[in-house]
Order: sequence, then structure tokens, then C-alpha cells
Amino acid sequence: MSETAAYVRVAQVSDLQNNRSLAVEVDGVGVLLCSSRDQLFAVASICSHAHESLAGGRIKHGVLCCPVHGARFDLATGAALNPPAVEPIATYPTRVVDGWIEVAVS
Ligand code: FES
Repeated sequence: MSETAAYVRVAQVSDLQNNRSLAVEVDGVGVLLCSSRDQLFAVASICSHAHESLAGGRIKHGVLCCPVHGARFDLATGAALNPPAVEPIATYPTRVVDGWIEVAVS
């Protein structure tokens, strides 16, 4: 991501509890905001396996579990950690400004 990444304000920090997620859309891209280990992550909201929604998937220790077939993804890298998913999901840079979560998808 370049220095000129376009960050978009998507939610307040208080909207996202630890080990929870929040689905948002940023410039037409579905993004799942996730909090784990008191860190903030933004990943694609669609699973790389069968293109189902990852919203509502269990989050634990920096890992998101797809609610449909159980593939797990590393929230920091997007890497698929177990079958049936083999491809990673996209990750996006985030930042917090004045209590707001901002995400850059481009
Ligand atoms: S749709 Fe996510 S593991 Fe199949």
C-alpha cells in the first residue's frame, strides 16, 4: 500500500468489540472489520473457498473462522490456515483517527 492510500472512515472504535466483527463496504468493496487481541484488522468479507460471507465467523487469537465450511484465516496476513480454503483473503490497512476506524482498499 502506498503512502497515498485513500483511507475511508467506516465505524467508530466503540462499535467493534474484541473478538467480534463488523461488515462494512468501502468504495464498493465488502470489508470485514475484526478485533482480536485488542488489535484491529480489515479483511475481505467473502471467503476464498465458496465465496460465502465471512460475517459472523468466530474470531479467536487473531484467526477468523468461516461460518460456512470452517476454513480459518490469519487476520494479519489473510492466509488460509486449513482446508477447504487454499487461497488467502485480501487484507486492508487500517488506522484509528479521533476514535474512528478508517480503512484503505485502494
Ligand atoms: S465458504 Fe468458507 S470455507 Fe467454504
